[in-house]
Amino acid sequence: MSSLFDSLSRMSRLLVTGAAGFIGSNFVHHVIAHTDHTVTVLDKLTYAGNEASLAGLPAERVRLVVGDIADASVVDPLVAEADVVVHYAAESHNDNSLHDPRPFLDTNIIGTYTLLEAARQHDVRFHHISTDEVYGDLELDDPSRFTESTPYNPSSPYSSTKAGSDLLVRAWVRSFGVRATISNCSNNYGPYQHVEKFIPRQITNVLRGIRPKLYGTGENVRDWIHADDHSSAVLTILDKGEIGETYLIGADGEKDNKSVVELILQIAGQPTDAYDLVTDRPGHDLRYAIDSTKLRTELGWTPTYGDFESGLAATMDWYRDNEAWWAPSKDGVEEFYASKGQ
Ligand code: NAD
Ligand code: TYD
Repeated sequence: MSSLFDSLSRMSRLLVTGAAGFIGSNFVHHVIAHTDHTVTVLDKLTYAGNEASLAGLPAERVRLVVGDIADASVVDPLVAEADVVVHYAAESHNDNSLHDPRPFLDTNIIGTYTLLEAARQHDVRFHHISTDEVYGDLELDDPSRFTESTPYNPSSPYSSTKAGSDLLVRAWVRSFGVRATISNCSNNYGPYQHVEKFIPRQITNVLRGIRPKLYGTGENVRDWIHADDHSSAVLTILDKGEIGETYLIGADGEKDNKSVVELILQIAGQPTDAYDLVTDRPGHDLRYAIDSTKLRTELGWTPTYGDFESGLAATMDWYRDNEAWWAPSKDGVEEFYASKGQ
């Protein structure tokens, strides 16, 4: 029988899916710096995965296996040898999901199902990484924020497949007793984020002398959290989270997109109106906002990146210093956006 709280031992073997991507790689760096755990990364190295994001980590504690989470023959032996699965792998970009939804179903739904079946078979603790976008959006003038009891109401192929994956996890907990937890986090920023996403796209635009591009009027609001704070929250849930529970992760970082672009331009020493308004995203969610009271009061987590401006400035420094990491993707991403008037 599993206990209600199912803490990791001091040295556990973690299987981390999707950790050649943005948030998963930040998590592995965090785990290596702050724990004694060992990590196997399972990643398909899609366009979004980059082995270089794991460079410098100790080979005796981190191993990369290249493979698909929807392939049971790859997944099963890796789950069997793990103490815990931390599942980050996903198709993660809303704009891509509007262009070609199919990979989102394959990875986010079938991939999560494949991992859950292996966790069930081998009775391995499972933590599922998800997004606040499963809740849909809030009005700009609505004072409320998402909580764990907000009804699911996803808008896009991306968020609907993430919602579907969350519901699979809940079903596998209830029907089969899989020892799982779920976290739904707000928008992350920090190093190793693909240049297709909002903040790195604008930072690298500024570095390349291209004007930042704001969808619509730029009034949409996102609730920003540094990826390192997301990692500490996930470790807290692995350590103290209650099996079967969902925890919302957020750091009170609401900002409208226009303010973020103005801040990037200001930090770069450029005029704060040197951006373009471009074609809006179809079905563009207006506002996300997280109430993380449960995680803070029940599990005692607090974020450490209180100041968005200094976190953003450090992220801009990282992109300036690591052009070799992002340059190979930049032109293709800009061609894709240009084809859509964005
Ligand atoms: P990302 O796109 O940067 O990375 C995804 C990784 O998954 C890549 O390395 C990719 O190669 C890998 N991958 C994709 N399909 C795979 C497959 N079939 N098999 C194995 N590996 C595969 O994504 P991210 O922004 O780091 O997001 C990670 C997770 O966090 C996702 O589950 C996402 O829904 C969630 N999340 C993201 C944010 C955010 O702001 N980016 C916020 C909340 C939650
Ligand atoms: P994004 O990083 O794609 O994350 P998400 O869609 O998951 O919130 O976009 C963040 C916000 O920035 C979103 O409101 C869309 C907007 N956006 C722009 O205004 N311009 C851009 O070039 C991009 C990529 C996004």
